Amino acid sequence: MAKTAIDNAKVPSSPVKILILSGAGISAESGVRTFRDSDGLWEEYDVMEVCSVEGFERNPKLVADFYDARRSDLESKQPNLAHETVTRLKRKYPARIDVLTQNVDDLFERAGCPDVIHLHGTLTDLRCEECQSVFEIGYKSQSSVVCPACHSTKIRHNVVMFGEEAPMYQKLQHSLDECDVFVVIGTSGKVLNIGWFAQWFEHSLLNNLDPDENLDPYFKVVYHEKATEAAHKIEAYIEELLTRFD
Ligand code: APR
Ligand code: ZN
Repeated sequence: MAKTAIDNAKVPSSPVKILILSGAGISAESGVRTFRDSDGLWEEYDVMEVCSVEGFERNPKLVADFYDARRSDLESKQPNLAHETVTRLKRKYPARIDVLTQNVDDLFERAGCPDVIHLHGTLTDLRCEECQSVFEIGYKSQSSVVCPACHSTKIRHNVVMFGEEAPMYQKLQHSLDECDVFVVIGTSGKVLNIGWFAQWFEHSLLNNLDPDENLDPYFKVVYHEKATEAAHKIEAYIEELLTRFD
């Protein structure tokens, strides 16, 4: 009989490794808008106008203004308890916890989290379309910025758009292969198929605000509450597994 994903679920190796994957929901309580919740960004903007290769080619100024607005808005935001909890775990177990996020904000970094993998790019950087160098601009507007490496004016946001490669997905695949426990905080799974990924893990936890019958059944532990309220339970869950399988 064909094996199902659950039959193939990975039995934790020793030492246990944890993948913590987050989405816009982990930054929601910091005041950073999510995408698909009510009052989310995609209620105000046509996602294909500002987040797709076609939209960018059609109207690069609209896209530059969109990212300028999100970048300057980010400056006043602060990391919340969920960022701080994940940061504490990552600093305590640097080799055993992978922190990957779909978010382009810098709130994990501002919480002091090292080695965060941004799967969809970073809002506080720009990329040169001539020499491909990526450089930090913080929360400033990109207008009149030139590439520090080659002085080209052909610079763009460093955020992955629909219709282009997401090079960091290789790191996601590596962590999915390497890790024994899958912890997901604040994502609708509309871009990354987290339900599918969860099937391959014997130990998995999902924390979202709202129930989702297309996601929840694939996870062993599910918390439907704000990330800052679930944070201490997520920390206890991870600590227990790290010590149990030591
Ligand atoms: N605490 C926990 N979860 C929350 C909170 C909160 N305070 N607020 C919202 N959520 C959850 C919602 O229940 C939802 O599942 O966060 C998720 C937000 O979903 P989306 O807005 O779709 O954001 P995300 O899943 O990160 O989007 C994925 O889509 O548009 C692209 O590139 C963009 O990286 C983004 C990707
Ligand atoms: Zn350049």
